[in-house]
Amino acid sequence: MSFKRNIMITGGAGFIGSHVVRLFVNKYPHYHIICLDKLTYAGNLANLKDIEQAPNYTFVKADICDYERMLTLIQEHNIDGIIHLAAESHVDRSIKDPFTFARTNVMGTLSLLQAAKVHWEAQPNRYEGKLFYHISTDEVYGALELTHPEGIEPPFSTTASSGEHHAAYGTDFFYETTKYNPHSPYSASKASSDHFVRAFHDTYGLPTIVTNCSNNYGPYQFPEKLIPLFINNIRNRKPLPVYGKGENVRDWLYVEDHARAIDTIFHTGKIADTYNIGGFNEWKNIDLIKVLIKTVDRLLGNPEGHSIELITYVTDRAGHDLRYAIDSSKLKNELGWEPSLQFEEGIEKTVRWYLDNQSWLDNITSGDYQAYYDVMYNNR
Ligand code: NAD
Ligand code: TYD
Repeated sequence: MSFKRNIMITGGAGFIGSHVVRLFVNKYPHYHIICLDKLTYAGNLANLKDIEQAPNYTFVKADICDYERMLTLIQEHNIDGIIHLAAESHVDRSIKDPFTFARTNVMGTLSLLQAAKVHWEAQPNRYEGKLFYHISTDEVYGALELTHPEGIEPPFSTTASSGEHHAAYGTDFFYETTKYNPHSPYSASKASSDHFVRAFHDTYGLPTIVTNCSNNYGPYQFPEKLIPLFINNIRNRKPLPVYGKGENVRDWLYVEDHARAIDTIFHTGKIADTYNIGGFNEWKNIDLIKVLIKTVDRLLGNPEGHSIELITYVTDRAGHDLRYAIDSSKLKNELGWEPSLQFEEGIEKTVRWYLDNQSWLDNITSGDYQAYYDVMYNNR
């Protein structure tokens, strides 16, 4: 079968990657989507169960740090577009084991960049019609100042009726022009990979785009991150470990909105450019946790406030960034992308999904999900 494009999506078995793979496989039957993933603890083929039989989908288990393998795969599939999401992504793990983050996020990205460069430079039309699209995070910008507005009660919509955006907890946002100032080993490794991507454009002319997105939430997120961890703990009546005073602020975006942004940028973004992606949706952790508790209790039929007692304040994360807030106006003004979901709607959908898919959560927490590759690809 001949396809119009051959697109490699790395980290496609992870949280965001699986939504991007699903969107591309369903929306573009004339593209061949090669989902490449090492299947670390965070990779789960059950995230892709509904599309694994699609004729335009291929899964490859591989490590992006394996340069020879990356080159061979890119050549064999004649890849013309790479959407690079594979990474170690959890800040707490990076504090315990920074080497793994440098290896995957920095050296892995470098190995993919070099493999793409070698293959594309050998083509008659070289870089024409090619794209290396690198998915990064707002955490590379560091942390913003946190102020406490008087008399404002959550939820904090940052969209004024005029349509202009106002920062809920400070006077500023992260812009595409904000200087990099990473604090955690995770964000330092992502910042380094962003620099390598831009260096490959500036030095060799490799067609690249970088996007920096705020915190994502939604189905298929590994339950070590705040929202799925807390939903799972509420349902199992386990403590909810709130770091510090729960005052830190994050800007939350529904994962399918991120996947739509990636689609828009992959097809219409300007080469060598950078776009910030975010929901203008700042929440203090403790306020968000209270909304989660209320929603889970309601959907489980518990009396209101039933799970508040599970909140447990614990020692703060080392170097815990106080506030993230993305200004994504450039993406809206230049490419027309906007988030589609209000936060309350997104949280309701998310909680319902985890409660309706408890076996997915149970398989992860028991470790059973990791056998799925052998069942699907080795023993068939
Ligand atoms: P995730 O941890 O859920 O998934 C990462 C995936 O990468 C997993 O499937 C894992 O198996 C795979 N992987 C890890 N090391 C690999 C290697 N060496 N070779 C091949 N595959 C490997 O992460 P996520 O939350 O889906 O994040 C995806 C990307 O988006 C990351 O680059 C992250 O930095 C970025 N990002 C995430 C968020 C967020 O809120 N989750 C926000 C902004 C940007
Ligand atoms: P997380 O989901 O790890 O994302 P990130 O650190 O990349 O923003 O955490 C979101 C926020 O929630 C962050 O401020 C840390 C906090 N947090 C807790 O208070 N308790 C927890 O158990 C976790 C995982 C996070």
